Formats: sequence, structure tokens, C-alpha cells
Amino acid sequence: MTPVELPEGVVSLADHEHHARLVLDESVWAYFNGGAADEITLRGNVQAWQQLQLLPRVMRRVSGANTRVNLLGREWPHPIMVAPMAYQRLAHPHAEQATALAAAALGAGLVLSTQASTLLEDVARTFLPEAARGPLWFQLYLLPDRGFMQTLVQRAEAAGFDALVLTVDAPVQGARDRERRAGFRRPPDITAVNLAGRVAPARRALQQGQSALFDDLMTHAPTWDDIAWLRSITHLPVLLKGVVHPDDARQALACGAAGLVVSNHGGRTLDTMPATAALLPRVLQAVAGDAPVLVDGGIRRGTDVLKAMALGASAVLVGRPVLHGLANAGATGVAHVLRLLRDELEIAMALTGCRSLADAPGVLFATGP
Ligand code: FNR
Ligand code: LAC
Repeated sequence: MTPVELPEGVVSLADHEHHARLVLDESVWAYFNGGAADEITLRGNVQAWQQLQLLPRVMRRVSGANTRVNLLGREWPHPIMVAPMAYQRLAHPHAEQATALAAAALGAGLVLSTQASTLLEDVARTFLPEAARGPLWFQLYLLPDRGFMQTLVQRAEAAGFDALVLTVDAPVQGARDRERRAGFRRPPDITAVNLAGRVAPARRALQQGQSALFDDLMTHAPTWDDIAWLRSITHLPVLLKGVVHPDDARQALACGAAGLVVSNHGGRTLDTMPATAALLPRVLQAVAGDAPVLVDGGIRRGTDVLKAMALGASAVLVGRPVLHGLANAGATGVAHVLRLLRDELEIAMALTGCRSLADAPGVLFATGP
């Protein structure tokens, strides 16, 4: 079955989630919605936004207000972007093309995963013609085959992507218990099509007492020195996704990163990391306004978007809810999810008296002395 019409009674991202659970195969559901280990970080992300509170200002004039943001030297319609998520064909046969169509139509940004199940050129052709579009970024995992990486980056440039996002928090998969319990296996016909032709490094013969992780896999993991190499092969801005320590944030800027995404990979990598709402202020303090700082993880309401902007984020990325919309109704479902978030953001701004997102910091309720 290929659902393309919105199910009835779905009026929130939580409703989309409940419905997606009914239409998705159980093991795919576990892959999409699960997190690492005990899923403490996964839950913590959502709860942290919920626990921040808003203190409205009343009777301010908000006619003519707008949700616009500036990011990497350009103005965009609003701060909501689709997070990079692998293998969207698992959710719906229209896959990343549907996500791109919906995001472009709604003026949302899109970060396409290295492990997308659709050619990056096809996504760019769908997305870029929309005049009122948001940013189009390409997410990278730095793979050992550097010749291939260079070609991939050149393809993203040629296709018209605005920036690169290097994900640095997942050199190895987290302990994804829920996924393993459900026996998730990617079907052989759903592949990372943009990575076709890359050469995987030969497995090392391990000595007695050596670890397959530390003495083989991690020997290929990127380090700070690789940022200079990546910057040397592209004229696109390079953002780093998954930087959470203030010292790493400073190092990233020193290495020439054009921006950061504060992320714990949606609770899918290292469990018991703090929620991103708690991590964001420290990173912002370290960056001191020198580069845009985005945030993702657990954004499920327009009020969450307003809170992230109030803390000082430049934009937010939304992950799983987009997959839920995609599973529920293809492009229509993704458009609905993004529309709900944007409408909720506008309602929250009107109700708190924000004429623009620059007013957001003034409506966060500060607890404590
Ligand atoms: C991801 N994420 C991710 N991140 C990335 O940099 N590259 C990738 O290919 C993927 N793939 C991926 C697949 C799936 C199924 C999920 C759920 C997530 C992480 C993603 O970009 C983002 O950081 C989180 O999903 C944000 O949290 P929420 O909004 O899902 O809570
Ligand atoms: C994940 C990888 C693909 O989170 O980033 O599933």
C-alpha cells in the first residue's frame, strides 16, 4: 500500500507518530523511532523542551510579524529544517523526493543524508526551483575512501547544495537495542545510492587481544585534522553536526567550521547524554555569536521551536516527525507535519507577543533566583 492521503483526525505531530506506528512494519518502526540503549537521551530530548516554559507578553502589536531567519548570509522564510535521515524509502516509496517536495513547498530547509535512498541530484532538482525555498544542505559522513568523498562533495556542489554538514558524533553506531530486538534488517533493494562505487577499506587482521572496534573500525574514523582536508576540497560552508562540548565548539570554529548543529543524534548514539535543550546554552556561550548554532532532538511543537530560538538557536532540525508524515501520506504527510509546526510557531509568537524571532529570548520564563 502507498498511502498518499492524510488520515483523519491527525492534527499534531504526536497524532502523526501514533498513526505511523500503525502503518509501518514493526522492525522499521524500531529503526526509525528507537534510540540507543535505555533510550534515556531519546526521552530526555522531548522532555527538556516540554519543561521549558514561556511567559507571554500581552497586547503587543504583532500585525505584520514574521518568522524569518538569517542563516549563512541569506534570509529564509522560517527556522524549521528537515534533519538528515538515512533510507527514507523505508517509510514510503516516494522517499526523499517526497520529503524534498514538501519541504520546498513549505519553505523549510532540508538536510539530505549521505545515506539517502535517492540520488542527491534528483533531490536538488525537486527542491531548488521553489522560489520561497529554505536552505538545501548535504550531510556527510567522512568515509575512508577519500577519492570517492571528493567526488561526492563535487556532486553536491554541482547539484546546487548551499552547504555541507559533517556529522561527527557517530563514528560507530550506538548500542541500538530496540532495533536489534525487533530484528531490523534493511531490505537489499533499499540502498545508499549516492555511495555506490565507493571502496570500503579492507578489514585488518587482528592480533590476539585487539579490538575490532578500536584496532579496525575506529582507525578510519575522522579526526579534527580532516576538517582542513574537507575545507580544502570545497568552496561550500562546512557545518559540524553533533558538537556538544564548549571546547569542541571553539575548536570547530578554529578549524573553520561555518556553523554547528548541537545534536545528540536524536538519542541514537551515546545514551545518557544530556538533552540538547540543556547543551545548547553552553555551546552558544562558547561560540559567542561567531557562527550560527542550530539544534535538533525532540522538537515536536511550534512552542519547542520558539523555545530553541529563545535560547539563541539560529534554526532547528526536525527528525522523526518527518518520517512519520512520510509514512502516513508521502509528500502530503511531510507537508502537513511541517505546516503544523510552522502554524504552531506562528500561534506561539502571536500569543507571546513576538513580532519576530529576535523577540523570542524575552518570552522564556526564567526559573530560579
Ligand atoms: C537519523 N539521524 C541522522 N543524522 C545524520 O547526520 N545522518 C544520518 O544519516 C542520520 N540518519 C538518521 C536516521 C533516522 C531513522 C533517524 C531517526 C535519525 C539523526 C537526525 O539527523 C537528527 O539528529 C535526529 O533525528 C533529531 O532528533 P529527532 O527530531 O528525531 O528527535
Ligand atoms: C542513524 C544513522 C544512519 O542514526 O545516522 O541511523
